Amino acid sequence: MNYEVVLPAAGSGKRMGAGKNKLFLQLLNKPILIHTLEVFQNDPHCTGIWLAVKPEERDYIQSLISQYEITKVKGLPAGGEERQHSVHSCLKEMDEVDIVLVHDAARPFVTQQVIDKLVQIAHEKGAAIAGVKAKDTMKKVEDGVIVETVDRDNLWAIQTPQAFRFDLLYEAEDVAEKVGFLGTDEAMLVERLGHQVYIVESTYDNVKITTKEDLLLGEMILKQREI
Ligand code: CTP
Ligand code: MG
Repeated sequence: MNYEVVLPAAGSGKRMGAGKNKLFLQLLNKPILIHTLEVFQNDPHCTGIWLAVKPEERDYIQSLISQYEITKVKGLPAGGEERQHSVHSCLKEMDEVDIVLVHDAARPFVTQQVIDKLVQIAHEKGAAIAGVKAKDTMKKVEDGVIVETVDRDNLWAIQTPQAFRFDLLYEAEDVAEKVGFLGTDEAMLVERLGHQVYIVESTYDNVKITTKEDLLLGEMILKQREI
């Protein structure tokens, strides 16, 4: 089953504190952005990549794309103030496809197996997102005091990719924009429409490179995969 992918890449990387978009930082031999792009470049079922970018970074990103011979990029629309706006600006430029994946450009370690499963379930059910079971004991805290120990069995930490039938995500983003609703992921917008979203068990190493510590972790993950 073929799909196209939207990669929001228009953030500022404030928590990384590198003074530039964290996606341009090197992980071992390549920029983080390229590691992520190569996952989809190398998946034969991915037929198009859409990158939301800051307009002032578009030329530089174009040059990286040519340097690393990423040939599937179909467009680089301008990102927005929030990640949700960046995703929306890509959807608005795309021609209708069956399945669309949304994936943080800052998560270079997603596995092919997880992508395949997400695409399959999204095709069958409409919406599927990647996540991992919570490992730690989870408690609800108010004003610094434990209110409740939450049953961990039902708790998942949510990642990307998130996969949808294109028309479903398009409608969800459209409605959210019209009513001014801002979600923390795409699934939230689809949930608001009353549509069921399925979970696909992912890997704990599908981390989002967010802070300096994640760069070290990322290099370890890459080295271990090279063995
Ligand atoms: N992103 C985007 N548009 C925004 C904000 C974020 O396209 N307005 C992208 C980022 O480039 C990243 C992904 O969404 O690939 C996940 O966001 P996050 O990890 O929070 O990255 P940043 O927003 O860049 O980092 P920070 O929040 O620390 O500033
Ligand atoms: Mg952010």
